[in-house]
Amino acid sequence: MSTRTDIETLVDALTLEEQVSLLSGEDFWSVPAIARLGIGKMRVTDGPNGARGSGSLVGGVTAAAFPVGISIGASWDPELAREIGVAIAEEVKSKGAHVSLAPTVNIHRSVTNGRNFECYSEDPELTAALAVGYVEGLQSQGISATIKHFVGNESEIERTTIDSVVDEVALREIYLRPFEDAVKIAGTWGIMSSYNKLNGSYTAENEWLLGQVLRRDWGYDGIVMSDWFGSRTTAPTVNAGLDLEMPGPTRDRGAKLVAAVETGAVSRDTIRTRALNMLRLMQRTGALHDDRPFEEHAEDRPEHRALIRRAGAEGTVLLKNDGLLPLADAGKLAVIGPNASVAQIMGGGSAQLNPHYRVSPWDGLAARLGPDALAHAQGCTNHRWEPVVTGNLTAEFFDNQDFDGAPVHTETLDSSIAFWIEGMADGKVDPARFSARVRGRYTAEEAGPHSFGLHAAGLARLYVDGQLVVDVWDNWTPGRTFFEEGCDEVCGLVDLAKGQEVEIVMELRSKPAANLHHSAFRFGVSRPLGDAEITAAAKAAAEADTALVFVGRSGEWDTEGSDLEDIRLPGRQDELVAAVLAANPKTVVVLQTGGPVEMPWVADAPAILQAWYPGQECGNAIADVLFGDAEPGGRLPQTFPARWEDNPTRSQDPEVYPGLDGRVRYEESLMIGYRHYDAQGITPLFPFGHGLSYTRFEMAELSAWAEGAELTVTNTGDRAGSTVVQLYLGPVTPVEGRPKRVLRGFAKVRLGAGESARIEIPLSPRDFARFDLAGQCWQVAAGDYRIEVGFSATDLRLDATVTAAAATLPV
Ligand code: BGC
Repeated sequence: MSTRTDIETLVDALTLEEQVSLLSGEDFWSVPAIARLGIGKMRVTDGPNGARGSGSLVGGVTAAAFPVGISIGASWDPELAREIGVAIAEEVKSKGAHVSLAPTVNIHRSVTNGRNFECYSEDPELTAALAVGYVEGLQSQGISATIKHFVGNESEIERTTIDSVVDEVALREIYLRPFEDAVKIAGTWGIMSSYNKLNGSYTAENEWLLGQVLRRDWGYDGIVMSDWFGSRTTAPTVNAGLDLEMPGPTRDRGAKLVAAVETGAVSRDTIRTRALNMLRLMQRTGALHDDRPFEEHAEDRPEHRALIRRAGAEGTVLLKNDGLLPLADAGKLAVIGPNASVAQIMGGGSAQLNPHYRVSPWDGLAARLGPDALAHAQGCTNHRWEPVVTGNLTAEFFDNQDFDGAPVHTETLDSSIAFWIEGMADGKVDPARFSARVRGRYTAEEAGPHSFGLHAAGLARLYVDGQLVVDVWDNWTPGRTFFEEGCDEVCGLVDLAKGQEVEIVMELRSKPAANLHHSAFRFGVSRPLGDAEITAAAKAAAEADTALVFVGRSGEWDTEGSDLEDIRLPGRQDELVAAVLAANPKTVVVLQTGGPVEMPWVADAPAILQAWYPGQECGNAIADVLFGDAEPGGRLPQTFPARWEDNPTRSQDPEVYPGLDGRVRYEESLMIGYRHYDAQGITPLFPFGHGLSYTRFEMAELSAWAEGAELTVTNTGDRAGSTVVQLYLGPVTPVEGRPKRVLRGFAKVRLGAGESARIEIPLSPRDFARFDLAGQCWQVAAGDYRIEVGFSATDLRLDATVTAAAATLPV
């Protein structure tokens, strides 16, 4: 017998208007309070590698920067994901919020997706296990997760309008799986719908997705909120199951929704259900009666520092090692490359935050060895946009679009990038109708041509000492910046003498947004580097005992709102690596990217480490691994192909990737990631699950049943270390169109030198099941299945055959 709960009584005490008010944001990051009934204001914050707070993307209160998703993915450690979830919950509280807009669990379908860095893996089993850990960690502290983006958001091309065409078997077995486990196992309280359409209808109004799958099949009782400006209708979203339209103020609800109830387009009962869902979330997170004044502050906690440093090493993957690592007595070190003295700690887009601090590789090494043991050479650049100008810049705002009259507001910026949303300029201008003039100064350190670059979400021009150098005003065209609202960068060259100081003035005029309402600009300047710098880096390498070359990308490339054009290292980094390797054979290549890169120099490199974007402790975590204080604990969560063309979305048909005429067709169905390389017989550069340890592991004595497998793992080396035992499962008789084997379990194993352990990996009937489209259920076909265990998808050491009984499992 069901009893009436407090929130049921409360929801019925609300007027229709009040119920409706709970279904839209009040502003960018909150849902309105209802003072009459003592209902508090619920606040949300991005997510997922920390808690940014209520500021805009740039600046704001500082926050702890945790490793990005792919780094957590590489840890293969759900317990670590849980610890990170717990710590991020503390961060969310320090920002006065109740809900974290995290984790991101879309799947690495193509290697060029701009947001792969934010997601865990190409594999649903691994993604789901980590998502469960993270969500449970967050929610154990009373902070709601908002697992995202539900579903089919595997690329950033036309991301707010594209139609992802995905067959239901691939959806159920791959793309929905992390969400399913988050609902059924972790009991997530929040889900964010994606921007895209799924099989013809926007996910925010897709009844099949939100009604059938999520609520009826999975029994979900949490809320679904839209991605920012991703709710586009009134009755269809509410009726389909979208509880909360974000951000506010409302665009399609409020009075429009009340009117829709009056015309009968939406029933009173539906509104009541949505409002009840919101009250349940508020009750779960404590927002319901939270009447504390809103405050957000920076809490730089030592235990967060330690966790981030450990997690960074746990995600670092030793791709190759001819014995050079760990560095013992490395002698004089040459610290080379564009990422050596710049800390690449996170990706770009809404996951950005203002970190408490950033430790670069140079800082981490200098802290350990002292700066005298190190020599530095940048070698080349890897930026996508010209580096920002820092110092005191002034921004003058006009309450019209033509710089008329006196500025209504003036503020100081500490760098030449800004991202303005509601409340900008102290609320003195209308964000949709303003102009702004920003002034800064730049002093050339060397003589020569300097490249000035500008891009903006808005019409903009850049003047250097009064001369127009870049014009993205008259010729503004949409590009891949600022969440697809900005143009691509345009550059102009100016000759400068050494020490010459110039005045830079940028003018910006607001323009209507396509989807995400904001104005933004970035300008910068640098002196292009050339052959001389590569030669100098090679010389520094030759003069050192050991060279460390830090190459990769940054959040400019690995970012929301834009996919990569290819997977080569940007700029002249491949030439730099080759030159350094030729100059000193004792060279370690340290990569920091949000996914795979081609490595034309791979055969010559004795040691390669992939460190991703590991958060604020970046340089310390990398130094810990280089010197062997920490194991390289990571294993690849994504296959690294030898060539871009080898990846699963390589089809010649643009509709398969990046999309054509508004559609992207997931033609490969189940064959993504290692399943694809397996089926096509393509040897990857480094396979899924690959990563070396500083010690050696063996596995033996496999016993397997349909309920699971047991095996003995031994550390046969002379130091403690960790490995990841991976269990793959497939039918003994291959099934046409289906993968030969898929990951069904794994265990991260830590053992002392010479130690052995018996490892158990459980299996359930669902692990043997296929989605049955006609029957709308999971079916286990009776028969023999092969269990293979190993250290990567291609390094399978032991196998056994088990027999499964026929079974039908509900969705
Ligand atoms: C992103 C979401 C994010 C939201 C709020 C959107 O652009 O896709 O992941 O949570 O903005 O910043």
